Amino acid sequence: MAILKIARMGHPVLRAVAEPVADPTAPAVRALVADMLQTAEDANGTGLAAPQVHVSRRLVIFMVGSERLTNRPLDQPQGWSVLINPAIEPVGTEVELGWEGCLSVPGLRGAVPRWTKIRYRGIGIEGEPIDRTVEGFHARVVQHECDHLDGILYPQRMTDLRLLHFNEEALRFPVELPGPENVDE
Ligand code: NI
Repeated sequence: MAILKIARMGHPVLRAVAEPVADPTAPAVRALVADMLQTAEDANGTGLAAPQVHVSRRLVIFMVGSERLTNRPLDQPQGWSVLINPAIEPVGTEVELGWEGCLSVPGLRGAVPRWTKIRYRGIGIEGEPIDRTVEGFHARVVQHECDHLDGILYPQRMTDLRLLHFNEEALRFPVELPGPENVDE
């Protein structure tokens, strides 16, 4: 196991569209996941995508900690998940602004609109199919991590760049975000 170097905004690996993982149960994939878990925990992250450690493959890890939970029923605390070759679809039309940070954009946080509720599918570390419908923070972290696989960082999803703040200033000057909105398709 090893702590890996995390790519920061500006590195081209973060802008690339990642390739699917050909064999999710390959030993190399297991080794990468072990290193990513160690890297994310060392950096105090709640999620990490393979491109962030310079591996342009469609694999993410994430956890749902109790401190960020919304009070939505499908938003429950959960330990680390491994999600390989994921696909996401929105459930409903509700979009909500929420604060996000990223290990590739250190020191900052921004208010990002995301689908409140999503269904996501993919493959787990044992090769098992994953099919979950979630909402709130769980839905947010999955959308954030999966965006990395398409070369998208959260500032690109922001609709109001006035809400891109340094963490220290955000703690000094908290901003209340508006509630959920429905988008017409
Ligand atoms: Ni990120």
